[in-house]
This record gives sequence, structure tokens and C-alpha cells, in this order.
Amino acid sequence: MATSTKTAITVAELDEMIEQGNQFLLLDVRNADEFERWKIEGRHPFETIHIPYFAFLENEEENIARVPKGQLVVAVCAKGGSSDYVANLLRERGYEAVNLEGGMIAWGNYYRTRRIPDTGTDLAIYQIIRVARGDLAYAVVSNGEAVLIDPTRHAEVYTSLAEREGFKIVAIFDTHAHADHISSGPRLAKELGVPYFLHPYDGIHPIDMLPATFEYEHLKDNFTFKFGNATLKGIHIPGHTLGNMAFLVNDRYLFTGDSIFIVSVARPDLGGRGQEWAPIHYESLYKKLLVLPDETVVLPAHFAMASKEGRADGTFYDTLGNIKRNNPKEYLAPSKEAFIEFMLSTLPVFPPQYVDIKRVNGGLLVPDEEKASELELGKNVCALADAYN
Ligand SMILES: [Fe+2]
Repeated sequence: MATSTKTAITVAELDEMIEQGNQFLLLDVRNADEFERWKIEGRHPFETIHIPYFAFLENEEENIARVPKGQLVVAVCAKGGSSDYVANLLRERGYEAVNLEGGMIAWGNYYRTRRIPDTGTDLAIYQIIRVARGDLAYAVVSNGEAVLIDPTRHAEVYTSLAEREGFKIVAIFDTHAHADHISSGPRLAKELGVPYFLHPYDGIHPIDMLPATFEYEHLKDNFTFKFGNATLKGIHIPGHTLGNMAFLVNDRYLFTGDSIFIVSVARPDLGGRGQEWAPIHYESLYKKLLVLPDETVVLPAHFAMASKEGRADGTFYDTLGNIKRNNPKEYLAPSKEAFIEFMLSTLPVFPPQYVDIKRVNGGLLVPDEEKASELELGKNVCALADAYN
């Protein structure tokens, strides 16, 4: 990338640089606690150094000297203001340095959209990837009609994709009431005048025991929905939530939501009932999902950068057979007792804001943009794997 005259890059350009494996130095100038909580990472490794903005203010010379020369420096902060200042300082000293426009806020709200290859002429699957958070949503299109699965907070990403690709959204599904991110499902469905589907168990906040404040269509096991020439079948898989669902499209594409990921499985405790839900989680995974044919294509709701799940074309999916073979045996091969014991003894930290995010997803709490973005700060921790932390 010719950057010598550039003073800033966009988050899309940064994503492309990381995907291409370009070498650069990421200079993060946020405070130590922000840096520890959430960093930029990607499929290809790159060097990151952390020198807080205030250190440059306190001792400019000494801290500039800590930045190695010889490669492009990309400076990042929370919103793109202080990193712009630092990138400027560096350029004045002869560095090739650019600012990341919009900082971590822009990175957190950035989406990469890819089409899943080889789905035949009758079906198109778009994977909408919220790169920084590890969230995956889908638009599944047949004969001009599309269903959205697990659309994230920024509804315009989905409506502009529909416009660009020339399809019509006819229904919106959430696999479950998400704890890690805000769904645009209910709002967008209302706006478009199309049905929004959720399992009724997930229409109740598991901790408040209060019902959702909006209308929705009820999902159930073996539910079917036709769009274009395609058929979506619902599979009720309680465990991560009580109303957790997977969707099987054309008996081949399995949208697993938070159940089976490419590496790891979903955690059972985000409703505050890990002990009680772990056994039913096991039953759902083993009796309803792992029994499907090995060639079934798994399209999950999350991915982990650190576990190298990404493909060269920027997508995240695999066959059920590969997933069974490649997962550590604790996740997908043990007895029920071993599974429960392993699950409950390795639960990652429970982010306190997840209780509020579930409230938002039930319409029980209505945040403004600032609050919504604060709730969604950082990566999701819906999986039971270090790689997802
Ligand atoms: Fe999740």
C-alpha cells in the first residue's frame, strides 16, 4: 500500500492489510487498562506496541525513540484523536506513520461481508462479519428472497447489502436472545414490515423473569419456513439459552448460532443457570446437532481470531465432520459427566454488562448510541475456549 503521502487509513483498509498479511507496526496509545481489555488482532500476526498518549506528552523524545523505524506505523486510540496527534509527531521525525480513523470505536463497528463459496446457483449465503467482536450474521438468499439470521446492532449494514445485491428481506431470525451484542432484529423487522422470529423461552429475560416488550413469531422444534426455493428448518437446542435454536437450510447449511463453533462450544451459564443448563446443553449438542451428516456445513454466530479459524477468503465456516475431527476432545467427544464437569470448571469470566444486553434484546432497556456502544465494548465471550477470550 502506498502510504507515504497518507496521514490516515480507514478500518476497512486496516482489515485488508491484516488479511493480506502486510507487515506494519500497530502503535496503541490508549491507557493500559483499555489496551489490556481489548486489542486489534487478525488472521495474520503483526507487531503491536503499547505506549500511552500521556507518555508522549510527558516525554516526547524518549517515547518516540521507543518506536522502531523501518516499517509503516499505524497509530490507534479510542476515537482517533490522540492517535492522530501521535502519528503527526512521528511523521515530523521522519516516520512513515498513519492514524487509524475513528480509533477502536470505528474498529468495533466495522463489518466485512463475504459470500460463502460453492453454495450452488439456487442459494447465496452472505456472511456479515463484525471483525473486532467476533460476531457473524447471515443473509441467506434464494430466488431474490432473503432471511437474516442474527443481525447485529447496525441494521443499515443489512439493508444496504440487500439493496446492493438486489434481494428482499422477507423474515428475520435470532437463534437466541443474545447476551454479547444487541440485535437489530425486532427493530428492523418492524421497519421492513416482516416477521421477527424468536423461541418464546428466549422472550423472557432469564434473570429478571420479565417478558419481551415487543411482538414476535414463536419458533419451535421442527419449525419450517420457506423463502424463494429454499427451506429453513428450526432445531430447538436448549443449553446456551433455553430457547436456543439452530437453523438448517436445504438440509445442508447449519446455522448453529451459539452452540457449536468451529473450535469450541457455547457456554451454558450466561442465563445465570450454568449448573442446570449444562446437562441439557449436552443433550442438544449430542442428540440434535452432532448426529447430522458430516458434510453439513456449519455457519456459527461467532469466531475466534486467535484460534485461526478464518479462511483465506475471509470467511468462517467448516463441515461438521472437520469440526468433530479438529476440536479438542473435551468439547465434542466425552461422556455427559465429563462434558458437564469440563464445562463448569472452565467457564470464562461472566461480563456483567451481559445482563443488560439481554435486557436490551428483550426491549426492557433502551440505550442511546453511547450506552449501546459501551455495552458492546470488546470481544464476545460466548464460547468456552481460551481462544475466544
Ligand atoms: Fe453470543
